[in-house]
Amino acid sequence: MFETRVLSGMRPTGSLHLGHYHGVLKNWARLQSEYPCLYFVADWHALTTDYDAPAEVEQNTADMVIDWLAAGIDPQQATLFIQSQIPEHAELHLLLSMIVPLGWLERVPTYKDQQEKLSGKDLTTYGFLGYPLLQSADILMYRARYVPVGEDQVPHVEFTREVARRFNHLYGREPGFEDKAKAAVKKMGSKKARLFNGLRTRFLEHGEQGALDQARAMLDEQQNLSRGDRERLYGHLEGGGKKILAEPEALLTGASRMVGLDGQKMSKSYGNSIALREEPSAVEKKIRTMPTDPARVKRSDPGNPEKCPVWSLHQVYSDDARRQWVTEGCTTAGIGCLDCKQPVIDAVQAELAPMRERALVYLEDPTLVKNIIAEGNEKARKLAAETMREVREAMGLAHGQ
Ligand code: TRP
Ligand code: SF4
Repeated sequence: MFETRVLSGMRPTGSLHLGHYHGVLKNWARLQSEYPCLYFVADWHALTTDYDAPAEVEQNTADMVIDWLAAGIDPQQATLFIQSQIPEHAELHLLLSMIVPLGWLERVPTYKDQQEKLSGKDLTTYGFLGYPLLQSADILMYRARYVPVGEDQVPHVEFTREVARRFNHLYGREPGFEDKAKAAVKKMGSKKARLFNGLRTRFLEHGEQGALDQARAMLDEQQNLSRGDRERLYGHLEGGGKKILAEPEALLTGASRMVGLDGQKMSKSYGNSIALREEPSAVEKKIRTMPTDPARVKRSDPGNPEKCPVWSLHQVYSDDARRQWVTEGCTTAGIGCLDCKQPVIDAVQAELAPMRERALVYLEDPTLVKNIIAEGNEKARKLAAETMREVREAMGLAHGQ
């Protein structure tokens, strides 16, 4: 249970671009070798806004998984699954909805923001209001410790922490909790039990954070505890009840906002993106026709890289020496804009070539992707079943099972 698990999801928006790669996928790929990671397609979340385009959601899901794989997400390391294939997410969402005040949902900043932004669409739906709570169910289901997300999603993770706290507060106080917790401490063996109790006192009476950390580490290492006992001890340690649901932390995906071809944030809807599976000729054309510093009308006019979107791409793709070459060449009109763009073109091509190749393998044999997802779904379902057993029991729904 208290394994340091990472979980993140992405709405299936169609084929991914360099912004997704530098902003999200590179980070996912790094994390997969450090922690057990779960990455999933949030197709239900897509339906909260695109409920009128189900065919697109399905196609986009297939395309997106191929892009993940192409970008280096490794199914041997990470678990890849599709949200709607794990119906437990819907069950947990429903159960959590019993305890979440409407005001909490109405106050989530993305609620009003998105309604205004997508004003052409009726988003006064029940499902859209519940968007963050569905996300909480996604996260809490796997007791994820870290949730790598962009800044816009941080309020959703904070919201999830509050939901977990409320849940544990309401349902963690089982009858006879104190006695059960004390019995669980004994199971650690007398020496460890004494140490544990000492650390607990130091935390509860003197607020020593180090003591809390140390005691938690003891629990993480203790092999012979059942899941229920572990939850009790985690809660007991802090003077509360059972911690059935674990509070997650957002893991901010560095602020690497990849700029698009026009200098704005790269986004498919702005038409300024380069897709991960873009053809080499299209990559070349897109970069060659990118706008540059408007002051450089003629080749002989000096320019200012700060006013040029190509410069932002050099920040991503060039080392100091080459950036020096750009600054010098641009401000003295020593190089032309096409000269300046060529190394960027080469770097993007070099980055995308292996992705295109990997994608091709999956495109030629769709059963490969199918199998990867089937396996991931299977693993996710097992974890979900465990959590739901506890949640149902806590909420009086075990019915003797
Ligand atoms: N809401 C997220 C987004 O738009 C996608 C998402 C759904 C998610 N469930 C999640 C992200 C759980 C992290 C964890 O990007
Ligand atoms: Fe932009 Fe490079 Fe042209 Fe300068 S030389 S304006 S940095 S493309």
